[in-house]
Amino acid sequence: MGWWQNFLSGRKISMKPAFDGPELAIGKTLRIDVHSHIVPGVDDGCSTLEESLKLIERLFKMGYSGAVVTPHIHSDIYPNSRHTLIPAFKQLKQAVGERWRNFTLELAAEYFLDEHFADCIASGDLLHFEAVDEIGQSVKCVLFELGFHEPPMNCEKVIFDLQMAGYQGVLAHAERYPYWHQNPDEIQALSNRGIWITVNAASLAGAHGPEMYHMAHELLENGTVKMICSDAHNLRHMDCLLAISKSPVVHRWIESGVMLSNSVLV
Ligand SMILES: [Fe+2]
Repeated sequence: MGWWQNFLSGRKISMKPAFDGPELAIGKTLRIDVHSHIVPGVDDGCSTLEESLKLIERLFKMGYSGAVVTPHIHSDIYPNSRHTLIPAFKQLKQAVGERWRNFTLELAAEYFLDEHFADCIASGDLLHFEAVDEIGQSVKCVLFELGFHEPPMNCEKVIFDLQMAGYQGVLAHAERYPYWHQNPDEIQALSNRGIWITVNAASLAGAHGPEMYHMAHELLENGTVKMICSDAHNLRHMDCLLAISKSPVVHRWIESGVMLSNSVLV
């Protein structure tokens, strides 16, 4: 029996997620979801427009006013570019506009930190979204992820180049890198260097197991996290967003005032 099944069956597990807080209008509070794979047919997320619209409908019903959709750009696995993504995105945006006129949609990307990402930074060709930072400045945000198996060799240089090119780096699902579970100071170091740290709702809901939950929980409690994201590939991820709307740790994080997803400009 897996950890999630243990959790659902009520078996005692230390520091398990709690969903016993009052239900919060999670979408109205977080306002914009900035990490998802809802553009149809371009990565491992939604494969059809119909599927994409079901996910958008869930965000809309949860009270979100918009989403930044972030297809994978990974030179080996998903060799996307603005040219491969824009046609599918336009189709999605039109369909969303016909159904939920007030729901805004922006296209960015989730870049894998590799040589291709370094090349995109060098050429100044990055899909990004805009937000207002803590001191009221408008910034151009670029979402990136790291490999899951080993720490990135060239992370510091690529992040330096990204910042020198005028972009605000946003790290995807900081809790999901196993090599940092024993060394969370590395995440704090990235935060100290100005990178915005995000975690996934699914991790906070316990869906990825205890290590991911503990890491996400810690990062929320110590004020490192700037955004909670759906990273939605399917409807299960939307269920997780709904689940954390009753999570006391999420409520405390929201009350602490460090959240930045409500400052995203779309
Ligand atoms: Fe993602």
